[in-house]
Amino acid sequence: MTPSSTNLSRTEAWSLLALVGVSVAIVANSFHGDGEPLMVSIAFSVFAFSATYSLIRWLGPSFMKVGLKGKDMAKAKRPEIPETMGAVCAVVYLLVLIAFIPFPFYKDIVAATSGGGNRDVVQVVEHVEMGRYLHRFPHNKLASYLSGVLSLQAIVLLGIGDDLLDIRWRHKVLIPAFGAFPMLIVYFVDFGVTQVVVPMPLQPYLGEIINLGWLYYAYMAAVAIFCPNSINMLAGINGVEVSQSLVIAVLLLINDSLYLSPFTPYPHPAMDSHLFSIYFLLPFIGVSLALLFHNWYPSKVFVGDTYCYFAGMVFVVVGILGHFSKTLLLLFIPQMFNFLYSCPQLFHIIPCPRHRLPKFNAVTGLLENSVTEWAHPPPALISAILKILNHLRLIGIKTNTKGEIIESTNLTLLNLWILWFGPMKEDRLALHIVLLQSACGLLALFVRHRMALLVFPSDNRNFLSSV
Ligand code: UD1
Ligand code: MG
Repeated sequence: MTPSSTNLSRTEAWSLLALVGVSVAIVANSFHGDGEPLMVSIAFSVFAFSATYSLIRWLGPSFMKVGLKGKDMAKAKRPEIPETMGAVCAVVYLLVLIAFIPFPFYKDIVAATSGGGNRDVVQVVEHVEMGRYLHRFPHNKLASYLSGVLSLQAIVLLGIGDDLLDIRWRHKVLIPAFGAFPMLIVYFVDFGVTQVVVPMPLQPYLGEIINLGWLYYAYMAAVAIFCPNSINMLAGINGVEVSQSLVIAVLLLINDSLYLSPFTPYPHPAMDSHLFSIYFLLPFIGVSLALLFHNWYPSKVFVGDTYCYFAGMVFVVVGILGHFSKTLLLLFIPQMFNFLYSCPQLFHIIPCPRHRLPKFNAVTGLLENSVTEWAHPPPALISAILKILNHLRLIGIKTNTKGEIIESTNLTLLNLWILWFGPMKEDRLALHIVLLQSACGLLALFVRHRMALLVFPSDNRNFLSSV
C-alpha cells in the first residue's frame, strides 16, 4: 500500500460521509416514538461499513510497520501488503454491537424496573408484555446477546495472537473452542436446553424429543471449531475468505426473514431467535463489504486468520443462540467438502506443505494446481488409491519413468476446481467459488424448507397448522 493510496479519494470521502449522514438521521429519527430497532440496526451497519472502509485505508501503513503484512503469492512481483485487517472489521463490529444494545432492550428494561434500575417495583406481567412487539426483545435475551459479544471478543483476541505468532495448525484448530467458551457457559446457565426433536421416522424408537445432555455441548463445541477453521481453510486467493462469508451471511439473512411476519403466522416461536440473528448479521455484512472492497482482486490488504475466525464465530453465535445450527451447517457445504477432501493432508497421510494455495504462472498470468512433492514414493496402498483417484480426476499426479508417484496436487477445493476447469485468473476462480457457494446454499435452504416437513413435525411455513 503506497502512502498516497491510504488517503480516501474525494468521491470516496463524500460518499462515505453521505452514508454516515443517512445512518445518523435514521438513528436520530428512531428517538421519536417507539423507534424501530431493525431500522437502527440497518443504520448502524451502514455506519459500520463507512467506518471500516476508512479505517482499513488509514491503518494499512501502521499494520505494516509492526510486521502485520504478507506476500501476495499469486502476483508476479509478490508485493507485500497489510495483513490482519479482519481485526479492524471486528473492532468496529463489536463497538457497533455494544452501542446497539439500548435499542432492542431499552423499553423492556424501563418497563420491568421503576426506571432507575430499582427492581422493587412490582409490575403486572401482562403490563410488561404489552410493551413487546416485533423488533423488541425481552430483557432475559440480553444475557445471550452479551455472551455472543464476549465470545466474539475472545475469538478476535486469539485470532490476532495467531496472526502475530503464526501458530501451528495442530494447535490453532482448537482456538475457536476457547472462543466459544463464554457463550457455552452462558448457554448452560441461562438456557440449558439440550433436547432435540427426533426426525419422524425415528420417533417410534426414540420418542418425540431426545435429551442429548453433555453430548449437545460437545456438538456445539464441534460446530464452533468447524465453522471458523473451515473458512480459514478455503482461503489463499484474493477475496475468497470475505466473499464466502458474505454469501453465508446473506443466505442466513434470507433464512431469518422467512420466520418474520408477514412471511409466517405471527407470533412464531422462533421469531425472536431469528431477529437476534439479524441484529448480529447486518453489521457483519457492513464491515465485511468494506473489507471486500479492499480485499477483492487485486488485493490491497489481506484479511488474516483474525477475520476467518471472527466470521466463523459470528455464524456460530447466531446458529447456536438462535437454535438453528443444523441449518447453519447446510450453508457450509463447500467448506465441508474442502475439509473432508483435505483430511489426508491434515492427518499427514499425504505430505502437507505450509501453503497449499494454487500456484501462479508468471508467463500465462493464470493460477495452476499447486503440488506436494513426495521425497520417497508413497507406500503401495496409498499409491494405488492415488492412481485410482487420478483416474477419476479427483487428484492430479506425476510419475517418474518407473511409474512411482513423485508429486500429487494439493487437496483443496481450489486446486480441484483448477483440475476440472483448467488454469484460470485469480479473480475468475474467486468468482466461481462465490457462485458455487451461493448455488449450494440456495439449494440447501430450498431443501431445508421444502423437505423438512417429511422428517420433522413442523417448520416455519406450517407452524400454526401443525401445533
Ligand atoms: C491456510 C491453509 C493453507 C493456505 C493458506 C492461505 C490449510 C491447512 N491451510 O493456512 O494451505 O495456503 O490458508 O491463506 O488449509 N495469501 C495470498 N493471497 C491471498 C490470501 C493469502 O497470497 O489472497 C498468502 C499470503 O502470503 C498471506 C498468507 O497466505 O500472508 C496467509 O496465510 P495464513 O492465513 O497464515 O495461512 P493459514 O491460515 O495457516
Ligand atoms: Mg489463514
